[in-house]
Amino acid sequence: SSNGSGEKERTLGIIKPDGLSGNYSDRIKQVILESGFNINKEMVIQLDEENAANFYAEHSSKPFFTNLIKYMTSGPVLVMILEKEDAVIHWRELIGPTDAGKAKITHPQSLRAMCGVDIEKNCVHGSDSHQSAQREIAFFFKEAPSAFKTEAVRKHDE
Ligand code: PPS
Repeated sequence: SSNGSGEKERTLGIIKPDGLSGNYSDRIKQVILESGFNINKEMVIQLDEENAANFYAEHSSKPFFTNLIKYMTSGPVLVMILEKEDAVIHWRELIGPTDAGKAKITHPQSLRAMCGVDIEKNCVHGSDSHQSAQREIAFFFKEAPSAFKTEAVRKHDE
């Protein structure tokens, strides 16, 4: 939290399907650790349409919703709990603007500039507030982790 106490905050980071399939995870994790975050927990999962629609429920009326769900279910994602003082704002700064195409021009050092393509394929997610972070962490790690297919399970299913 931002109360100056030096207390750590947690946020949720996701390496999206193209970030994972493009082998960017190691470079992204290196940047995360060099930036002073601790990676508390991580898991590789395959979201189904229902999982993704629940996660992005607040965007369900947006014109891009269908594309967003299609993209986020197109392959496995790497979900991480990131911990640091003021983690939410610092992680958002590190990932850069939503539109990765624009990020390449305005924020060339950002993660989205490094591994993203455009406004859809922007390779990473970050919670947008402390409240969102708590909800998103609970969504993946507390409420129903067994609802998600892990990579190991997914491979068995193939
Ligand atoms: S908004 O309208 O300001 O709330 O949207 P924004 O915060 O920019 O984006 C919310 C999430 O939707 C994704 N997004 C898109 N996906 C596909 N196509 C388009 N055009 C598009 N616009 C936004 C965006 O990447 C955000 O996903 P997360 O995972 O939260 O980064």
